Amino acid sequence: MNKIKVAVLGCGAIAQRRHIPEYASNEHVELVAFADPNKERVEAVAREYGGKAYTNYEELLKNEKLDAVSVCSPNYLHAPMAIAAANAGLHVLVEKPMAASAEEGQEMIDAARKNGVYLMIGHNQRLMPPHVKAKEILDSGKLGRVLTFRTSFGHGGPEGWSLDGRESWFFQKNKAIMGAMGDLGVHKSDFIRYLLNDEVAEVAGFISTIHKDGTDVDDNATCILRMESGAVGTLMASWTQYRSGDNSTVLWCENGVMKIGTVEGDEVIVELTNGTIETYKVGAMATNEKQVPSGVIDEFVNCILTNTPPSISGEEGLRSLKVILAAFESQETGKIVKL
Ligand SMILES: NC(=O)c1ccc[n+]([C@@H]2O[C@H](COP(=O)([O-])OP(=O)(O)OC[C@H]3O[C@@H](n4cnc5c(N)ncnc54)[C@H](O)[C@@H]3O)[C@@H](O)[C@H]2O)c1
Repeated sequence: MNKIKVAVLGCGAIAQRRHIPEYASNEHVELVAFADPNKERVEAVAREYGGKAYTNYEELLKNEKLDAVSVCSPNYLHAPMAIAAANAGLHVLVEKPMAASAEEGQEMIDAARKNGVYLMIGHNQRLMPPHVKAKEILDSGKLGRVLTFRTSFGHGGPEGWSLDGRESWFFQKNKAIMGAMGDLGVHKSDFIRYLLNDEVAEVAGFISTIHKDGTDVDDNATCILRMESGAVGTLMASWTQYRSGDNSTVLWCENGVMKIGTVEGDEVIVELTNGTIETYKVGAMATNEKQVPSGVIDEFVNCILTNTPPSISGEEGLRSLKVILAAFESQETGKIVKL
């Protein structure tokens, strides 16, 4: 079988730590080209993995014969890159948040549909082993309905992650559009929708820049979500958890509680109202410091190989993005926003 020819647009942290090595270790993939305006960076990647280096992604798309791309660029470039790639007939895996606005997200979906290519969003939280186990337990029905929940994601900020540190685009509103909410909050709006198999009906957001100097993007958000099922919970995103960052979710249900990512070593804990306690050791959640394979890249490749539309689709990414955009609207207007 011919290998799938892939290019990676944007060769920063997520590309170098996850997309590129995961493509490189997939036997069905040939990494053909890379694009990044940082010449030294893109040339180093091309040297290490083989393939051609470009400082301009449009030139790459014009010159190379490809099947698919990963879009791993700053947020404001997701839509233009994804649309250009779809119009070139390529399948697209784009990092989160999928776009800078709901309109852009819809344009990406339309471009993929028009060109008959797949659009998948890098919502890798769905594939983390503790989250996979939690979904399996909740779907089994033993906990009954989810009544209330909290889900949060925090760390010390992208200066400890982005290859450009404190100079990173992450802190520039014209490139990032959103701060902690685009970086972490959208992971949790996606995860809670997916886990509960439910949609967000109403959002109230308290979003601010509490501690990061010299940036106009948010570094903290606390939101209240009411789901269509009636369940109510909180979603938190933070860039100021300088020690012991958090990626945990707790669901209080009719028949007990499920704690995900609250205790190191026991990634999922189920405490039932009948007194039973179940603990599951399923492998740790990835953190910025401890990376584990995301599974997203293999899933994307598998979709292409088997002609199966991705389950983490553009439509899914857009619903998760709209929750975050609604939280910003709530912060701005001081009102609860209905979706
Ligand atoms: N799924 C996840 O868990 C996860 C984790 C981190 C980041 N991300 C997302 O990945 C994307 C990239 O973030 P990162 O952490 O790699 O940031 P980063 O700052 O480390 O890297 C961004 C790269 O994009 C490059 N770039 C800038 N303009 C470009 C252009 N015109 N063409 C091509 N490349 C360009 C920069 O030079 C840099 O190398 C963001 O959307 C971010 O939200 C996702």
